[in-house]
Amino acid sequence: MNFKQYFETEEIANTIYTTNAKQKFDKIFDVLKTFAIEENFPHPTTYLAHGTNAIIFNTTNKNVIARIVWLNSALLGRESCDKVMAEDIFQESGGVGRIYAHIDNYKDFDDNTHEITYKEKLNTKWQDYIKKEYPSESNEIIKALSNIHYQDKNEDKYIDYLNGFAPFKNLVSAIKLGLPTHDLHANNFALNGKNNVVAIDC
Ligand SMILES: Nc1ncnc2c1ncn2[C@@H]1O[C@H](COP(=O)(O)OP(=O)(O)O)[C@@H](O)[C@H]1O
Ligand SMILES: [Mg+2]
Repeated sequence: MNFKQYFETEEIANTIYTTNAKQKFDKIFDVLKTFAIEENFPHPTTYLAHGTNAIIFNTTNKNVIARIVWLNSALLGRESCDKVMAEDIFQESGGVGRIYAHIDNYKDFDDNTHEITYKEKLNTKWQDYIKKEYPSESNEIIKALSNIHYQDKNEDKYIDYLNGFAPFKNLVSAIKLGLPTHDLHANNFALNGKNNVVAIDC
């Protein structure tokens, strides 16, 4: 399914934009494509996924995805997680998805500003991997992970517990280095090629 077909069958865009939703979706693709041509980056190809703020596209490089914010992130009133994750300290921790380029102020022809990020394509089925590797502990692990973002007073306890499992060691390092935890819910993790569960959004 290409992104236009996706768009026409999904209600999400219509709930976000009351009018001209399709035009806005098409435009965001064009902005990304124009950026890719100008900067000689992999071009967006098909729709992959979306969250509340961003749309993710596959690119002409099968290992690379492009993320573009489709709501004005300034409206949300907090710093972009991609900008934080792109910092050397978090990239080197290995606990966040690999970021190849982060542009937080790309201006299109209409002078609108966009945030664009090029990232390693990851496996979002991290829970399947954990269930397979740790069949008897997977429920506890997934629960501990889901408790982190509530900033529960027991957050340290969950973090220490997770640190006992190889796939979480780098993520725990990133959190200890100050990775924001308030948006670390299940859809914001993925599995990388080294079988580490990493944050993709926070
Ligand atoms: N690097 C990636 N590889 C594969 N899928 C991704 C990647 N980054 C994001 N996604 C998918 O896109 C969804 C939305 O991306 P995200 O950056 O979390 O946007 P938002 O800020 O809108 O929540 C994720 O929940 C995930 O399913
Ligand atoms: Mg997200």
